[in-house]
Amino acid sequence: MNVFSMGAIGVDLGSENTVVALEDEGVVLREPTAVLTSAENESEIIALGKDAKRMMGRTDRETMLLEPVSYGAVAHSEFAAMCLLGMSEKALQRRRPFEKNRLCVTHPHGLTHVEKNALSSCVMLAGAKRALLVPSAIAAAVGKDIHIEKAVGNLIVSIGSEITEISVISMMGVVASRTMKTGSHAFDEAIIRYVRREKGLVIGAQTAENLKKDIGSCMPDGNNADTLTLRGRNVITGKPSTETVTSEDIAKALDEPVRMLVESIADALFNVPAELAGDLIDTGIHLTGAGSLLHGLPERIKKETQLKVHIGEHPENDAALGACRIASDERMIRALLNAGSAIEA
Ligand SMILES: Nc1ncnc2c1ncn2[C@@H]1O[C@H](COP(=O)(O)OP(=O)(O)OP(=O)(O)O)[C@@H](O)[C@H]1O
Ligand SMILES: [Mg+2]
Repeated sequence: MNVFSMGAIGVDLGSENTVVALEDEGVVLREPTAVLTSAENESEIIALGKDAKRMMGRTDRETMLLEPVSYGAVAHSEFAAMCLLGMSEKALQRRRPFEKNRLCVTHPHGLTHVEKNALSSCVMLAGAKRALLVPSAIAAAVGKDIHIEKAVGNLIVSIGSEITEISVISMMGVVASRTMKTGSHAFDEAIIRYVRREKGLVIGAQTAENLKKDIGSCMPDGNNADTLTLRGRNVITGKPSTETVTSEDIAKALDEPVRMLVESIADALFNVPAELAGDLIDTGIHLTGAGSLLHGLPERIKKETQLKVHIGEHPENDAALGACRIASDERMIRALLNAGSAIEA
């Protein structure tokens, strides 16, 4: 660690959530990547993260909720920098100043030049003195204790809210990759459409997400044990109304988007270079990202691809944890820079 550095921070700046990991502590914070500003004056910040989401529509002021990361890329550097700095400082709790840390921030593979610049400016605007940008797949692999330096192909499938990334990692680099603009949000949208069509009820995005997490499954086991009563608005009368929804209903709603996702993962496997494809029989698929927590998804991917599927207890933490490990390991930083797999912001 550099003499100026007092510690390491790893940040996974996702489209929906920012996850912060600290050296010696692991993941300490996970909050929405969101900023609540005054509608009249955009530069007046009212709240960040979960406070921003909670206060939205609940203050007597005209406000605007901004989500500065879109499809994994920084769409607004200043607001993304506020999230990065605000969440890191909240995680650090005044133990040490943010700028004294070695920072590592993750990003999807294959960002355009413009998107990389936007991420670099975000990191600079946040005030970081030493910062490294690494592909999320590499960070997640390190977070999952995969030996990325070996000449062995490892397949990392990351399912986030807005993007799904399929990457093969070998010898400190991403050797094949596909990023798709779909993720767990597509599951919520499918639930909204299904409940509207089959139950005549209009529900919001939060209700759909809760249904997905609570009774959602993509490997229906045929029992209807899980049932929830929903409140929403009747499609025809517009009046408040209630309906019951079963886990079988949600499985039906999720059938198409899950099938599309699983098929595209299987399809991406066809494009893996032949010499690495053989390795995957031994190493299997490593699932990461909070979207992979959908009940039954690992089993479904295993069935479709005929490969072993590994998923940890907290796949939502892998990338931030790995980024933090990278930031605290000078040798790994040098190796990643030499391999062209990381850049200094
Ligand atoms: N237990 C769960 N079951 C199913 N889905 C879940 C569960 N927990 C979280 N999710 C979903 O995971 C998604 C968020 O994933 P994640 O935090 O990895 O996204 P992100 O990193 O912010 O986005 P991206 O990687 O697309 O930029 C949300 O859509 C959320 O509903
Ligand atoms: Mg993500």
